[in-house]
Amino acid sequence: MIRAHFGIDRNPFANDASELLPHQQLILETLRVHCQQGGFCLVMGNPGTGKSVVRETLVKGADKRLMVASVTRTMHTYSNTVRILAQAFGLDHGGNNFKSEKRPIEGAHTLKQYGRAIVTVIDNDHLLDIDTLRGLRLLLGDFPRNHNLVLFGQPELLSNLQLRAHDDIKSRITYSVCVLKLGPDDMEAFLLAQLDLTGLPHPTFSPETLWLVVRATDGILKRARNLAPGRLLEAVRARKRVVDLENVNRVLLQPHWREDRDLDKI
Ligand SMILES: Nc1ncnc2c1ncn2[C@@H]1O[C@H](COP(=O)(O)OP(=O)(O)OP(=O)(O)O)[C@@H](O)[C@H]1O
Ligand SMILES: [Mg+2]
Repeated sequence: MIRAHFGIDRNPFANDASELLPHQQLILETLRVHCQQGGFCLVMGNPGTGKSVVRETLVKGADKRLMVASVTRTMHTYSNTVRILAQAFGLDHGGNNFKSEKRPIEGAHTLKQYGRAIVTVIDNDHLLDIDTLRGLRLLLGDFPRNHNLVLFGQPELLSNLQLRAHDDIKSRITYSVCVLKLGPDDMEAFLLAQLDLTGLPHPTFSPETLWLVVRATDGILKRARNLAPGRLLEAVRARKRVVDLENVNRVLLQPHWREDRDLDKI
């Protein structure tokens, strides 16, 4: 419906449109260097700032020289996490705990012999139980030295690691970075670039509409994406080709876009 109305053949803000933004690209390149050396990397950021997109690009970049084992389901016990790891290595993941721990270690050493660097990537690591992380740390201690563990998650993980009891984990960090929210100018450039990718002219948003959208997103990429279909749909309903303030405001009236204090007044 939106595509037919605006005469475009791809959805605006489609996930497949993702090309890394400069700050994401810089993080990716730094991670790739660490992947060759081995280490323990933390990529943190508030929800929706674009961490998983960096992870997916790292995983897609796996090649003959780099093997990436990706664990994205993190609400697991230690033994399940190890099984997922063995699965990612393409190894049999059944058997008792001891066997399933041994397999990834052997797999990793075999890959090292073939000259491949190994990276274990864990997404949403803030959901990972700290004892599971400690278990993994001990397990990965038996991996080849060029092994790199990369954790993607929300900043509270680092707050947890500040406790002295977790110093054994924190002291192993070789690189950590925060994926920051976009500033208003960068968010505006991002929104316009997304219009370009879709083939929509920039005046599809009036300047004041663009300003309102930039404000509503608060620098969060996921918010920009989630706001897109609603405001375009409102323009379709109003039979307009230009999205105006009224269209955006109608979307922003939806409860999930409103602050708690506004909801009290409803
Ligand atoms: N480089 C990019 N180009 C276009 N869109 C992007 C880009 N990076 C992120 N996005 C958009 O932002 C959304 C959120 O990104 P992502 O899922 O990576 O965030 P996240 O930090 O992992 O969030 P969470 O903490 O909730 O898991 C993506 O679905 C995508 O639409
Ligand atoms: Mg994510």
